[in-house]
Amino acid sequence: MAERITGVLISEEALARTVRRLGAEISAAYEGKRLLLLGVLKGSYVFLADLARALSIPCEVEFLRMASYGGNDTGGELRLLWDLVIGLEEYDVLVVEDILDSGRTLSLLLERLRARGPRSLALCALLDKPARRAVPVEARFIGVEIPDAFVVGYGLDYAQRYRNLPHVATLAIGQDSHGRVDTGITPQVNSCQ
Ligand code: IMP
Ligand code: MG
Repeated sequence: MAERITGVLISEEALARTVRRLGAEISAAYEGKRLLLLGVLKGSYVFLADLARALSIPCEVEFLRMASYGGNDTGGELRLLWDLVIGLEEYDVLVVEDILDSGRTLSLLLERLRARGPRSLALCALLDKPARRAVPVEARFIGVEIPDAFVVGYGLDYAQRYRNLPHVATLAIGQDSHGRVDTGITPQVNSCQ
């Protein structure tokens, strides 16, 4: 069975309110600093575009793209598919992510970025699934805490689709060998972000 959308978890209007609130918080926190919004592709592209326009302070924007492999409780390996072409020493870097799930890829990424000596380094995640956390990661700015369901839309994908939904929806994925429908629990994928 193919996957199917089971409901709207966060409406377009609620997303817009969340982004406005985050924009105000970030603008206040980074007033007078040299803010670099560092988007993690592909999932953050919609959120970052809206977030950048919700800021009342100047910012610069860069992206990187990564894939993670061998994620387990002891960590995994992080491979950058697209790396940055600029140094970070002059910047207050805010990593912008779509969702904080196990925290494995983000903790590896933050460690890697910290080694490049930014003035400061913090994380902003639109969505947070605290029930799934395997590695502690501190996000300074969080949009919405959500339950342990697989979600798509507003940049988030399943098999590279659904990123263009204007809201965040829950997705039920396939069925097991007994014909039971999967309830949308996050599958263990070592996916390309
Ligand atoms: P983690 O925090 O290291 O487990 O990795 C989080 C990444 O997994 C996110 O950046 C997403 O790309 C992906 N991911 C986690 N949960 C979901 C979901 O519910 N829908 C779509 N992608 C997800
Ligand atoms: Mg992501």
